[in-house]
Amino acid sequence: MGLNNRVKNRSAGSANEKIAGQPITAYQLGKSAGAWRNGAGTESDGQDTNSQNRPTRHLTKTARSLIIYFSRSGSTELLASKIAKQTSADLLEIVVERPYAASYPQTLSRANLERESANFPELNLQVPDLSRYETIYLGYPIWAMTLAHPMTAFLMANGRQLTHKQIAPFMTEGGYGQGNSVERIQDILENQGSQKNRFVPALVVDGNQVDQADKRVAAWVAQVQSGD
Ligand SMILES: Cc1cc2nc3c(=O)[nH]c(=O)nc-3n(C[C@H](O)[C@H](O)[C@H](O)COP(=O)(O)O)c2cc1C
Repeated sequence: MGLNNRVKNRSAGSANEKIAGQPITAYQLGKSAGAWRNGAGTESDGQDTNSQNRPTRHLTKTARSLIIYFSRSGSTELLASKIAKQTSADLLEIVVERPYAASYPQTLSRANLERESANFPELNLQVPDLSRYETIYLGYPIWAMTLAHPMTAFLMANGRQLTHKQIAPFMTEGGYGQGNSVERIQDILENQGSQKNRFVPALVVDGNQVDQADKRVAAWVAQVQSGD
């Protein structure tokens, strides 16, 4: 493959990686800091889960860990795939009834309305019995310096099922860091009646650099597993 093709593929967000056998498209990869503009303006294909893919759902009878994630433009999905590769964790993608728009400004205005009205999106997924899992990895993009709304909605509906589990948050963001997202998870779980959760310090990766995060992922997974 010539250099031009390589550059073209990379700028199209091809991660050349898969999650549960399906290709990942991550739209921020390969963008320079200037072009990336802290993730502002990042388009997607308007399907959250990639228009060509089924929602990721890989549930075995034996795994003791589960990765639950939401991703609009693919970076958090790529990070989830890296964690999955280094663990034998099951995978569950959070799917909303009505996907966020491909256009960033439209997504932003919908997200602002949802936040102002505390009207979080309706989900479209069957949640399996979570009682068997000891560790739950929770993956999300940062929106307005906190959890992306689909993760908020998931935790509000299912938080109680996370009682007694180790929680390992991971996220991608636009360069402004994790905000109050972990505190928000703790608050929601507490309000839902989840008890005795042990939190591992979060893994935080810039959305345009997830393809370079393998070493950080390995170190973080080792930290999570030392608490299993
Ligand atoms: C509605 C919206 C709000 C965002 N707010 C923030 C923010 O407050 N701080 C930040 O660092 N990045 C912010 N971002 C950028 C995303 O966190 C970043 O692009 C992330 O990697 C997207 O993950 P995804 O590709 O898995 O959807 C925002 C993105 C969107 C769509």
